[in-house]
Amino acid sequence: MTETDENTAQDGLPKIKIRGGNPLNGDIRISGAKNSALKLICASLLTEQEVKLFNVPTRLRDIETLEKLLTHMGSEIVVNHDAKTMSLKGLGDKSKTTAHYDLVRQMRASILVLGPTLARHGHAKVSLPGGCAIGSRPVDLHLKGLEQMGADIQIEDGYVLATAPAGGLKGADIHFPKVSVGATEHLLMTATLANGITTLSNAAMEPEIGDLANMLNNMGADIRGIGTQKLVIHGVDKLNGTDHSVIPDRIETGTFMIAAALTGGEVTLKNTRPDTIDAVTALLKKAGAEVMIDGTDITVKRKENLQSLRGIDIMTEPYPGFPTDMQAQIMTMLTLCDGAGMVTETIFENRYMHVPELVRMGANIVVQGNSAIVRGVNKLKGAQVMATDLRASVALVIAGLCAEGETTINRIYHLERGYEDIAGKLSAVGADIRREK
Ligand code: EPZ
Repeated sequence: MTETDENTAQDGLPKIKIRGGNPLNGDIRISGAKNSALKLICASLLTEQEVKLFNVPTRLRDIETLEKLLTHMGSEIVVNHDAKTMSLKGLGDKSKTTAHYDLVRQMRASILVLGPTLARHGHAKVSLPGGCAIGSRPVDLHLKGLEQMGADIQIEDGYVLATAPAGGLKGADIHFPKVSVGATEHLLMTATLANGITTLSNAAMEPEIGDLANMLNNMGADIRGIGTQKLVIHGVDKLNGTDHSVIPDRIETGTFMIAAALTGGEVTLKNTRPDTIDAVTALLKKAGAEVMIDGTDITVKRKENLQSLRGIDIMTEPYPGFPTDMQAQIMTMLTLCDGAGMVTETIFENRYMHVPELVRMGANIVVQGNSAIVRGVNKLKGAQVMATDLRASVALVIAGLCAEGETTINRIYHLERGYEDIAGKLSAVGADIRREK
């Protein structure tokens, strides 16, 4: 055991243990999308009426963190874990417009409470999120867009202090120099209550943005161009409450598709949105998986005559390209492929933290700049590994499912930010996996 192994083995935190080698077989129900639910929850701050969300992944840590933050900011929230619903009422207490560092630092998406609070109350104070394991991830595009809408933005003691002009925020023509999911969502929400028309061009087109825009329109907003790179928002005086069901999580879907194809079983994923993961489906088919779509079900298995999947090259890109949130998982797949594959990460500058951990399990990966060459090996071997961020963690889970012997994944709090009951879901389809305290 190395010194690091000993430290993590004795840290007393929950771990996941996996004994690899079992093919996965059966059905898995996909949860609502974390990255959509987070924004829909923030959007509830735009109205004093009730927003009731269905299909919410209520047990995710990121959702719980945001719930705490909104409660601190005066929202009344009722969660039903069994029904997967969340009811939110942003009561509009003008004295509760601060989002403190302690909660914001736990989750970067918390910055998205800034614009809605500013638009509704005229001022907001939100901590800057700070550093991140996968890249520097600045929020300059968010702040610049708010300034273009007339907000005065000051940075003091690590907080953003934002104030709207006397008559309220005003519509603006905002062109993003770089595609940003968060900045698009942030300014989209804010613009719904601004005076006049806002255009967002070179906007991100991720399905979660469409989900948010559809809910906002049901609340009385006027957003046009949904699903395109140009969103046009006609500001309205106020928004109403609504009922809304969160779209299925496309990244959880893709993650289990890879796990099914790689372990050599046959898994049907239920409650999915197949049209949101075309890029992943296409690459899996190229690598030798069979992907069968039937309504909202996706069934995945390896082609019958194939011993292993084939090496393929991938490059991460904004939607509809191959998602950066699937890069680590596909890398695990390539470690066991026939031949080699190249992975190029174009969204985040430091998203290869899973590589040294996969190498500890016997993978052959060489990173050069923002690309990684992965040469397939015959087998991975179980080891003590450490989760470093959400998707890196799940890549290690997939590796553990295929590895010879036992894999222990430490620091699984990363995993639990974004995957609901992953050990339960995988053991129900035949994996030998357990969460240990
Ligand atoms: C969202 O992050 C997701 N998070 C990420 O998922 C996902 O990886 C990412 O989009 C890309 O798809 C949530 O939805 C909560 P960006 P976001 O703004 O919005 C740079 C996961 O594992 N940038 O599209 O923060 C930025 O540094 C997470 O679930 C600026 O330079 O991503 C990055 O290089 C991780 N200035 C690029 O743009 C800004 O003001 C894209 O980031 C904003 C972003």
